[in-house]
Amino acid sequence: MEFKAESATARRNRTDCAIVGVHDGGRLAGSGATLDAALDGRLSRIVAGGDFAGRLGETLLLPDLGKGAAARVILVGLGAEKSWSRRSYRKVLTAAANAALKTPSKDVLVTLADADVPDTDAYYRARFVAEQFLHCAYQVPAIRSTAKSRPSQVATVRVLVSPTELADGRRGVRDGAAIGVGAGLTRNLANLPSNVCTPSYLAQEGQRLAKEHRAVRCKVLGEREMRRLGMGSLLSVTAGSLEPPKMIVLEYRGRGAKAAPIALVGKGVTFDTGGISLKDPGGMDEMKFDMTGAASVFGAIKAMAALDAPIHVVGIIPAVENMPSGTATKPGDIVTSMAGITIEVLNTDAEGRLILCDALTYSRRFKPREVIDIATLTGACVVALGSHNSAVMSNHDGLAEGLVAAGRRSADTCWRMPLAEEYQEQLKSNFADMANVAGRDGGAITAACFLWKFTDGLKWAHLDIAGTAYVTGAAKGATGRPVPLLADYLLANLG
Ligand code: BES
Ligand code: MN
Ligand code: ZN
Repeated sequence: MEFKAESATARRNRTDCAIVGVHDGGRLAGSGATLDAALDGRLSRIVAGGDFAGRLGETLLLPDLGKGAAARVILVGLGAEKSWSRRSYRKVLTAAANAALKTPSKDVLVTLADADVPDTDAYYRARFVAEQFLHCAYQVPAIRSTAKSRPSQVATVRVLVSPTELADGRRGVRDGAAIGVGAGLTRNLANLPSNVCTPSYLAQEGQRLAKEHRAVRCKVLGEREMRRLGMGSLLSVTAGSLEPPKMIVLEYRGRGAKAAPIALVGKGVTFDTGGISLKDPGGMDEMKFDMTGAASVFGAIKAMAALDAPIHVVGIIPAVENMPSGTATKPGDIVTSMAGITIEVLNTDAEGRLILCDALTYSRRFKPREVIDIATLTGACVVALGSHNSAVMSNHDGLAEGLVAAGRRSADTCWRMPLAEEYQEQLKSNFADMANVAGRDGGAITAACFLWKFTDGLKWAHLDIAGTAYVTGAAKGATGRPVPLLADYLLANLG
């Protein structure tokens, strides 16, 4: 799918499908009014006649409009003008995109991005169009014997922007398309079952990304190298699995990037059974999503590479499978991390932190200016924040605030939770430097506190995405979060 921003006043070709926003009072938004005039007032007559109320997210397809400006129009309800917001704008885009993608249109013209939306600007109005169309057009990589739905026909989406904001609109659709493609890669990888998406599969995917983009390099460490580096904590997680572990290092260095890299460390547990501390069977299939942190690192780097962004990013992905077996790590076993800190593994289901601590230590060799780890780390995070916000914990206020701001701008929000010495008490062990679990209370925070011990001297933040990375229920699948947040943050910190 291709995206273009066009001046709302320029002469343009007929479109297969125009999207026109209507407030519940009957007012057409943005250049919808101009299109209405070109269609001899047909749209406003339909609204005045009571056939379309303009309720938020409501859509009406008007096909067969003849030889005029648009072969068909999709009216989309914007709701009340007084409650018009950024949130409703995104809802409207979702409804409009879903409706347009169902039609046989090849070309779609969006006429509502040149109207005001609170708390956004032309850049984000245009960017959200591209992101949302790609999001809605996404189809899960289903493994079925017969095809279920045909892919959409939409090839071009043109977004009208006011002529003074053309440059912002163009940047918006360009970035939105790249973020949408990156998030699509994240969703594809995360949605794959664990018998396909193994650590080795992720490693191959890294190599494929390096082949696709000249500025991306990929290096994969195997078990022997990890052992040589002393990654005893990471290796203890994979001890029960027949799948060999991989440490995947993706390096993107955009032209013009001079600063030290930003390191993105992504949890890549391709399946989390809990190990000997076996999980309850209910919903255990969802633990194939336990590598979404890793997948979001792929997605964010893909977006940067697609944009040729002048930034230096290193993706570090510890990829393992957490299985019980005769060779698995057992509760009470003590392991030595790459940093030399010994860990008593009281619960083999708290495995994310065991692989991340060694990956964080490994990240030091790239002398990163910042390290951000991304992980479906705790169920406690879902209890604390639900599915709307990721959690962010950091040892650096500026970094935490930067991530919160990027989340707000990109509508992929995160909420800061505390880190404090007090919580560390809960991680005390009688037999080793630390235990890997700290009881139920404040579970998301104590997990972050565990990682914090490995970040001395690093400017570090941790994103717990357990609640935001995927949805359950009928539409079960990966959301592509937090790729918009990460991409927004990286684009705001080029260099
Ligand atoms: N991958 C899970 C966390 C998780 C739970 C993600 C639910 C998404 C949904 C993680 O490895 C885990 O099992 N965490 C334990 C930690 C506990 C043993 C301290 C948890 O959250 O129960
Ligand atoms: Mn676990
Ligand atoms: Zn896990």
